[in-house]
Amino acid sequence: MITSDAPLPPRLGSLTFHGPLSEERAESLVRRIADAGPADVLDIGCGWGELLLRVLDAVPGAKGIGIDINAEDLARGRALAAERGLADRSVFVEESARGTERGPVDAILCLGSSQALCDPEVHDPAEALRELRRLVRPGGLVVLGEGFWERTPTETELAGMWPGAATGDHLSLGGLVDLAIEAGFRPVWIETAGRDEWEAFESGYRYDTELWLAAHPDHPLAAETRERVDRQRSSWLNGYRNVLGIAYLTLVATA
Ligand SMILES: C[S@@+](CC[C@H](N)C(=O)[O-])C[C@H]1O[C@@H](n2cnc3c(N)ncnc32)[C@H](O)[C@@H]1O
Repeated sequence: MITSDAPLPPRLGSLTFHGPLSEERAESLVRRIADAGPADVLDIGCGWGELLLRVLDAVPGAKGIGIDINAEDLARGRALAAERGLADRSVFVEESARGTERGPVDAILCLGSSQALCDPEVHDPAEALRELRRLVRPGGLVVLGEGFWERTPTETELAGMWPGAATGDHLSLGGLVDLAIEAGFRPVWIETAGRDEWEAFESGYRYDTELWLAAHPDHPLAAETRERVDRQRSSWLNGYRNVLGIAYLTLVATA
């Protein structure tokens, strides 16, 4: 039981996107989607749907559906939509995207969320890509933000990452793009997160929590919160930093 009146540790408030994505890259992704003029946009594992809302803002009349299982993030998305006058063109639904029937649509966003389309026990990008192809109309666009190995990790790096990390957890960039083509897409734009984007994301991910920890060292939740953020930071700095990449693939569904 929490006995202190001090506020609880904050969560992700400092992040604009829940992933290593710069304003500049977001702008060019939105512009590319907007140029295609989609009538409907589906955001798989949308979180608070920042990119979805920017696409809706850039495409007058387009309708958007964001799917996620995190009620708090969805509520943030609905509040942002209302603030920006987009509430009548967007819905944020709390449900699993696995096997979803909310397609086909003209454009799909799936950033850092392909696990939402797969068996939760096995992250299989091939399965996620087949699902994305099923959910988009021929000629439609998918923007997939997906992990890949920049190079094969060493045993020491794997030991520093998440529990049970293995080389089979990700593909190379080439292997990932090959899978997209096999699933029925052409890759029209291939880009990857840079070091600045990673550092802004990793630092922003824990920023509010670190400030909270410094201000509330004796809070009943301080010890477990400190253990969690120290573990997260170590898994980045001693594990996946400069090894795990994030690819942003803009894919067009073949006819
Ligand atoms: C790294 S976050 C990315 C959020 C958002 N796409 C962004 O880039 O800001 C991954 C999201 O996937 C969601 N997720 C995980 N499993 C899911 C599922 N089965 N169905 C829908 N969303 C899921 C999580 O709740 C989380 O919000």
